[in-house]
Amino acid sequence: MIDGKKVLFSGMQSTGSLTLGNYLGALKNWVTLSDEYECFYSVVDMHSITIRQEPSELRKRARNLLTLYIAAGLDPKKNCIYYQSHVSGHAELAWILNCFTYIGELNRMTQFKDKAAKHADNINAGLYTYPVLMAADILLYQADVVPVGKDQLQHLEITRDIAQRFNAIYGEVFTIPEPYMGKAGANIRSLQNPDKKMSKSDENANASIYLMDDPDTIIRKFKRAVTDSEASVRYREEQPGIKNLIEIYCACTGKTPEETEKEFDGRGYSEFKPAVGEAVVSVLKPVQDRFYELSKDKAYIDGIIKENAEKANYYATKTLRKVQKKIGFPERIR
Ligand code: TYM
Repeated sequence: MIDGKKVLFSGMQSTGSLTLGNYLGALKNWVTLSDEYECFYSVVDMHSITIRQEPSELRKRARNLLTLYIAAGLDPKKNCIYYQSHVSGHAELAWILNCFTYIGELNRMTQFKDKAAKHADNINAGLYTYPVLMAADILLYQADVVPVGKDQLQHLEITRDIAQRFNAIYGEVFTIPEPYMGKAGANIRSLQNPDKKMSKSDENANASIYLMDDPDTIIRKFKRAVTDSEASVRYREEQPGIKNLIEIYCACTGKTPEETEKEFDGRGYSEFKPAVGEAVVSVLKPVQDRFYELSKDKAYIDGIIKENAEKANYYATKTLRKVQKKIGFPERIR
């Protein structure tokens, strides 16, 4: 609790270009939760270097992502929006938690297996202990709730296990976090292959909608989306492509799958697909406009970076000192 409010933590990697999956699965929900909770939203640049990065590109993307958080509607006066690498507590707690995490647990992580397969020439220790750094992110702020897409649930589960294990030994040190997923949008699939999630790293640019895609590109990608030959807009497992489009449409319009089926009853995919595109454009366009506007104001963004890093450091240090004391590190002499 901070000032009587429950705490929320979430983060995104500053790698590649954000997709509609990132937006509907996470960022959009962050905005709706930001009044109810004391929120920490991190640009997790330390996670990004588990894959090789070009330094100037990483720096640029991190700043763009931080700006995008604000453009999406997060008020930086109320929400702590900051770079993970500006708060050394993340790395310090991650080391400690590494000593409370079993190799057997890490071996089960599906994201590690996927990424290791994709980057077979760089299976580094950071990629392996990635979930521990993520646990440190969350536990450092004593977060009650963590809004994420479905692909991150396994990491949330290991975070809870590590926290419970630590608490069982040392007493109630960490708050046990709960995942939060929105009604629609937690599991957005590739537009070209609904068996895969929509991902930043897809080689096929038509498979993903990027947050900064212009309206024409968005509509074109939806028109080309892989569907089926049923020619009916139905929300069912047998039509995974259409199911995904309905999911996207619902997440953007607030409608339910049933309402969507009714709306497009008797109308073909040639009407439905562009309608999904339009719905997405109407959600993304204002975010894009605000992003370009904000990007011009260097001093404003710099101020937020400085102020919020200080705030995050304050809360992170509080937990870190508590943990260090519990495990028996010598007291600091002032
Ligand atoms: P990242 O950067 O891959 O994704 C950011 C958020 O977007 C969600 N997401 C999706 N949701 C729905 N459909 C999709 N196709 C889709 N693709 C991505 C993710 O679930 C995530 O919520 N390890 C995390 C970042 C992280 C983090 C944390 C998150 C680091 N520390 C602490 C929460 C709490 C990651 O790589 O997310």
